[in-house]
Amino acid sequence: MRVLGVETSCDETGVAVYDSDQGLLGHTVYSQVALHAEYGGVVPELASRDHIRKVLPLIEETLAQAGTTKDQLDGIAYTRGPGLVGSLLVGAGVARSLAWGLGIPAVGVNHLEAHLLAPMLEDERPEFPFLALLVSGGHTLLVLVAGVGRYRVLGESLDDAAGEAFDKAAKLLHLSYPGGPALERLAREGDPNRFRFPRPMTDRPGLDFSFSGLKTHTLTTVRAHADDPSARADIARAFQDAVVDTLAIKCRRALEQTGVSRLVVAGGVGANAQLREELRHTAERQNARLYYPRPELCTDNGAMIAYAGWCRLMGGAAEPAEFDVTARWPLSALRAA
Ligand code: KG4
Ligand code: ZN
Repeated sequence: MRVLGVETSCDETGVAVYDSDQGLLGHTVYSQVALHAEYGGVVPELASRDHIRKVLPLIEETLAQAGTTKDQLDGIAYTRGPGLVGSLLVGAGVARSLAWGLGIPAVGVNHLEAHLLAPMLEDERPEFPFLALLVSGGHTLLVLVAGVGRYRVLGESLDDAAGEAFDKAAKLLHLSYPGGPALERLAREGDPNRFRFPRPMTDRPGLDFSFSGLKTHTLTTVRAHADDPSARADIARAFQDAVVDTLAIKCRRALEQTGVSRLVVAGGVGANAQLREELRHTAERQNARLYYPRPELCTDNGAMIAYAGWCRLMGGAAEPAEFDVTARWPLSALRAA
């Protein structure tokens, strides 16, 4: 079965072709980062307009890269939510129209589920059940994944998502948007022993997160050292250490509590090298194995949508004649495939 995946939930237009026998045949991502940079964040109206400009050329390009024609497709998957409604509508409209014209099924995919299943696109794929840490710009979730559609959310952020915290701290340090990768680069030059930031919510039981306090802590430290240019890198390092440590502590707890021996890291923050390194140690100490998709499959992409769509089509997902998209769509609303 050959499935085209279309991702347009936020500021990346992602398209891919997944073949159930041959794996990923083609995959392209167009990032709108430059477009939104001057505003310091994603501007929804600009995002949807840019998806309109890019999605059809990207579909053509990806089909060519995959060496396949539209007629060889067996289904089309698109992100139905959660995300920016205007952006979602672009991908949904194109995917549904194309599928209708070709006489093949279309399936609306949950973006979070797609992130959770992204490691399945790699040669070394985890078996179920596994524990997944999903850390992106919009979400911070610890999920027990027992199978496709069988998710138990064990912990989540009560305020800012981990990626959002990175982006906000980066802004306070006058770094360019998007903040995560820029802060990581700056932190590499930082002294880990100069500042120590708190590890929020690690002093009490439970697997939930809270990152908004770290933002305040960053702000006060930046202000207190405004006349010392060398402090910026040290603050970035202290911030990153605190986030990474906090995520690692909760992952260790979740591995202990569930007895699961596989840990998957997904979402944009999963591209952070220090987080990967720390989680590798955490997993080793717990006799667990760490899995993560390659960095380009950690951030938003069409490949994970194509794969999740294939899982759903195999499970018999059928789309109603009318279509909708949804800004909010929690994992708990999904049923097993
Ligand atoms: O998964 P993603 O591409 O989009 C969402 O669905 O949100 O994640 C984007 C988030 C942004 O907040 C970005 O700053 C963060 O992931 N991010 C990083 C790194 N690369 C991306 N955060 C920390 N370190 C990185 N290397
Ligand atoms: Zn995402």
